[in-house]
Amino acid sequence: MILKYILPMLTLSSAAAGYSKGEKLLMEKKALLYEGKAKQIYAAEDERYFIMTYKDEATAFDGAKKGIIEDKGIINNRISCLLFKMLEEAGIKTHLVKQLDERNVLVKRMKMVPVEVVVRNVTAGSLAKKLGIEEGLTLPIPIIELYYKNDDLHDPMINEYHAAAMGWANWEEIKEIQAIGLKINEILKRFFDDIGIILVDFKLEFGICDGRILLGDEISPDSCRLWDKQSLEKLDKDRFRRDLGGEAEAYREVVSRIEKNLSK
Ligand SMILES: Nc1ncnc2c1ncn2[C@@H]1O[C@H](COP(=O)(O)OP(=O)(O)OP(=O)(O)O)[C@@H](O)[C@H]1O
Ligand SMILES: [Mg+2]
Repeated sequence: MILKYILPMLTLSSAAAGYSKGEKLLMEKKALLYEGKAKQIYAAEDERYFIMTYKDEATAFDGAKKGIIEDKGIINNRISCLLFKMLEEAGIKTHLVKQLDERNVLVKRMKMVPVEVVVRNVTAGSLAKKLGIEEGLTLPIPIIELYYKNDDLHDPMINEYHAAAMGWANWEEIKEIQAIGLKINEILKRFFDDIGIILVDFKLEFGICDGRILLGDEISPDSCRLWDKQSLEKLDKDRFRRDLGGEAEAYREVVSRIEKNLSK
């Protein structure tokens, strides 16, 4: 029990070794501002930033199913930071400032647009169910879907007119968010293909910082469907949703393929 609390402190302080006083201050967690299902958001010393802490808790079906995936927080933080860095290098603006340690990342504080952007390349999940089609059909063009982020309403599907009319973002911002979503899809689809993974679909969240739209939140096996190209084995949260087992191994497989590719 005690170890559980001491260990994160040790990793934080060892991560801080070799940094200047100013940099160390940036790493200090202040008040816990929000506890989500997968992450915690802390205030940072500098109010332009947040510290996001990844947890091992997994939930599905609106929180009805709960569990733990061993080291998920560590793996997702690593995957998300690597992918965000790659996207930045490709010209996508994101909230990423710096990975602080295993579970913590420093991000730009944003006003989130309460709209989730889903991009699909292959039929699966709710799309297959809703349209009565089988899973695994490759789509001739990607499909973009928007969902209003609202747990009480179970994140209803909306379109860009709803988003603009409700004032969740203006028309230009919604158009820009969708265009960035498609650009991210092209970059990630190619990258995952190179490591033998089909990017079936994924969810993005955006926010506004200094009047500009930035990609926020995370990209990880929690927010993507990733299938092994050869075996079509699922390497994502569907293993948890569908009681397939081997979640931690699947998440580890994804991070190890990403790291192997990026170290080439
Ligand atoms: N840069 C950022 N600035 C402000 N908020 C952010 C930023 N990046 C992500 N968030 C928000 O932080 C929260 C992350 O927590 P988590 O992913 O656990 O939430 P969640 O359980 O999925 O619930 P929900 O997303 O519905 O609030 C999300 O609400 C997300 O929208
Ligand atoms: Mg979330």
